[in-house]
Amino acid sequence: MSRVSEIMETMEYGPSVEDSSAVREWLAKNGPFGHFIGGKFTEPGATFATRDPSTGEDLAQLSQGSADDVADAVKAARKAQRGWAKLSGSERARYLYAIARHVQKRERFLSVLETLDNGKPIRESRDADIPLVARHFYHHAGWAELLETKLPGYTPLGVCGQIIPWNFPLLMLAWKIAPGLAAGNTVVLKPAEYTSLTALAFAEICQEVGLPAGVVNIVTGDGDTGAALVSADVDKIAFTGSTEVGRKIAETLAGTGRKLTLELGGKSPFIVMDDADLDAAVDGVADSIWFNQGQVCCAGSRILVAESVADRFERLLQTRMNRLRVGPPLDKSTDIGAIVDPVQKDRIMSICRAATDDGAELIGGHPASGCFIAPGYLRNIQPANPGMQQEIFGPIATLSTFRTADEAIELANNTRYGLAGSVWSESATVATDLAARIKAGVIWINSANMFDAAAPFGGYRESGFGREGGRVGMLEYLAEPTVKAVKEPAVTKPAAAPDGEAATTGVIDRTAKLYIGGAQKRPDGGASYKVPGGLAPLGNRKDIRNAVEAAAKATKWAAMGGHARAQVLYFIAENLSARATEFATRTSKAEVEAAIARAFHYAAWADKFDGANVQAKTGTLVNVIPEPYGVMGIACPNTQPLASFMSLVMPAIAMGNSVVAIAAQDDPLPVTDLYQVFDTSDLPGGVVNIITGVKDELAQTLAAHDEVAAMWYVGDQADLTRVEQAAGGNLKPVWSPTNRDWTKSDAQGEIFLRHAMQAKTIWLPYGA
Ligand code: NAI
Repeated sequence: MSRVSEIMETMEYGPSVEDSSAVREWLAKNGPFGHFIGGKFTEPGATFATRDPSTGEDLAQLSQGSADDVADAVKAARKAQRGWAKLSGSERARYLYAIARHVQKRERFLSVLETLDNGKPIRESRDADIPLVARHFYHHAGWAELLETKLPGYTPLGVCGQIIPWNFPLLMLAWKIAPGLAAGNTVVLKPAEYTSLTALAFAEICQEVGLPAGVVNIVTGDGDTGAALVSADVDKIAFTGSTEVGRKIAETLAGTGRKLTLELGGKSPFIVMDDADLDAAVDGVADSIWFNQGQVCCAGSRILVAESVADRFERLLQTRMNRLRVGPPLDKSTDIGAIVDPVQKDRIMSICRAATDDGAELIGGHPASGCFIAPGYLRNIQPANPGMQQEIFGPIATLSTFRTADEAIELANNTRYGLAGSVWSESATVATDLAARIKAGVIWINSANMFDAAAPFGGYRESGFGREGGRVGMLEYLAEPTVKAVKEPAVTKPAAAPDGEAATTGVIDRTAKLYIGGAQKRPDGGASYKVPGGLAPLGNRKDIRNAVEAAAKATKWAAMGGHARAQVLYFIAENLSARATEFATRTSKAEVEAAIARAFHYAAWADKFDGANVQAKTGTLVNVIPEPYGVMGIACPNTQPLASFMSLVMPAIAMGNSVVAIAAQDDPLPVTDLYQVFDTSDLPGGVVNIITGVKDELAQTLAAHDEVAAMWYVGDQADLTRVEQAAGGNLKPVWSPTNRDWTKSDAQGEIFLRHAMQAKTIWLPYGA
């Protein structure tokens, strides 16, 4: 006689397939589909098929959006925008609330449609995707209501172009459309070509709730349609997808003044310490890399496990993995459904082949006919192996071991990405330490893949920039309060001074130097150029590289904490005050006063630019922490040299960044005079580095440098375009607070601090 546990082990699952008849009727009735423009569905144009990846069956024909379709949609959105923005926040909130209610009412329908179109298990679309869609619209209904109270002075951007991927089709739509509309923008959204059906069902919901025509427009099609939207007359592009396409978009938008947010790929670490609850961690892996067939940008795809527990962990992992059911997505007991398309399946398998050819061992991960791949992982894998470097975007993790926490962090951060990370340890001290040290935008402690509309999501480095969710997510859909515009003077191109020419200011000879790593340095090229009051060094690429290197070494600055940084800034203010009269002989009194004011102001802020503890999920502490970028590049305007330099550099360092600053090209000496002030104010070497010379050339080198994580550029529009192009290559955000009077109070404040940090969201579930 068998024991109950044995019976449980050997029992077969009976199929329990969700009924798809209502969805099929809807498809038959409504297909072939046109676009949704100006509140109506257009006649279908040239079409292509969208398929159920689990069977290969055609589900419907979709229209391939042309540039004209995109232009029509943008026009409709433009026409609707003024009226939409004019509504009160409460009125917009009612619409968003109604959308949330309708999504809830159609939860089953939308889950089945999503699963049919995408191949994800119905359990996931029903329990994760669609409830989160509703949650996003509720949350952002609240933002519409409270916008004027919580973000006074901010205004809508206008028309937003939004391009989304296929891994969470309706959820990504919600992440984009909900904040866009709450802020008073109208949108043109392009869903992914594999998975457009729920977006079209969403268009129907917009009609049902009576959303004004043109507020939401949906144009279907492939990458060409997406590219047309990027080039269209929109005020912002929000993109989620591959890093390659993200990079292209950043380069296309360079110099257009359009706002951009990018949510790109990842190769996120999943760290298991020796004191972790291994059973829970194994479940975490399942939620992490085997959720949604591993087609998750923030999947914990690199498992790093402490060597001392690795054998036990792997045994548990294999047991768990072998129990996962790969099967029909509509079956309620399926854990792993279909990969979205044969193209993606081939892509996953080819990376796995490259990984095994390079010596890694693949456990599980077998392909089956159709679009199915069993869960698996690569072991014995070296850091340079393609499986370790590339985003596999399938149900295949990598597994490697480490000995110490430092080694774990080194491995974790050894990637060009920085989207997420998951850490497992029963020690709060250890877990929070790891969370702080991983360079990524979202960290889950003893958990994985948790999402909420209130919790900002987004990456560091090549995972993109900008955040979605919560307050910082709202800011990405709003224009900053306007400042009184002041015209910048044009920059004169410096000519290098003839060899040996001395600089005379009448009384004293002045030949300034560069300031790198806390020391005055001669420029690499040895040349100087004439400026008012003397000679300034003509810095070159090598000087920029040396300065970045020095800045990258100044990591202690961030670790000092806000209070200690404030002390240094106060000291700078004090020392500058003591020499105010002397500085005023070289520049205006107003500038000197502004410079002192900036140091005082940001000293005050250094320990007060707080993060937030957001209400994302009960039983979970969700902290949003402002983290410095690391090394920031700052190209100062040519005007008000001292005031502009201090207005830009003080907030950046107050937040814990180190800076490489290019001083005002035509009048840099008031800035080079600051070296002694910094030296006597306990500012650690390398926190502020100053280069003088041809701003445009220097700024491009700085913008293209991999170690520089964010760039501020103030100056000429044509030069800004080149800087944005250079920065697009390695996906760094560029901010350009142009045309202000740097001695006035609108050249200081919270906005500067916000652009000097990136939000890190840390999830910590509690409960004994
Ligand atoms: P993709 O980046 O090409 O597609 C994402 C979206 O961008 C789709 O709507 C697509 O039509 C659109 N698109 C494509 N080319 C465009 C262009 N030139 N301009 C504007 N829009 C464009 O990603 P794809 O090819 O579907 O997947 C390839 C790989 O990308 C995946 O294996 C995965 O590694 C990564 N990926 C990452 C995602 C994420 O959430 N971070 C989502 C989807 C893919």
